[in-house]
Amino acid sequence: MTIVTVEQAKTLVDLANQARVHAYAPYSNYPVGAALRTKSGRIFTGVNVENAAYPTTMCAERIAIYKAVSEGEREFDVIAVVTPNGGSPCGSCRQVMAEFGLETIVLIGNAAGELLEQTTVNGLLPGAFTPAHLKI
Ligand code: THU
Repeated sequence: MTIVTVEQAKTLVDLANQARVHAYAPYSNYPVGAALRTKSGRIFTGVNVENAAYPTTMCAERIAIYKAVSEGEREFDVIAVVTPNGGSPCGSCRQVMAEFGLETIVLIGNAAGELLEQTTVNGLLPGAFTPAHLKI
């Protein structure tokens, strides 16, 4: 089981918060940042990237995860997500997180750098459909 110290949590929330400066959110004005730590110790950040064709928008969490996967990482310890007001990861991001492990810790913070919630992917998406369901 992964343990995240208070200091590590603070570092990841700070990284996610700082990443928000690069968010491309001209339509919502709701910049989101994520910081994902892999089991190998690497950290990948992500931001939301919006689009004039609104549904094409991609969330910060998924960008961080896809960046990591595209660089060969598939095992994650913890992901920090920071929104202006402590908003929680969307359903699509929960599903993508679930693909790579239900035990991944999820830290939710706000623009003031406060850690508001510490949970897991399983806590956010109980009963998730996972790769294990396809093994029949
Ligand atoms: N957003 C994220 O980046 N992550 C979430 O989990 C929730 C929503 C983004 C998408 C969009 O750019 C903006 O926040 C408002 O929905």
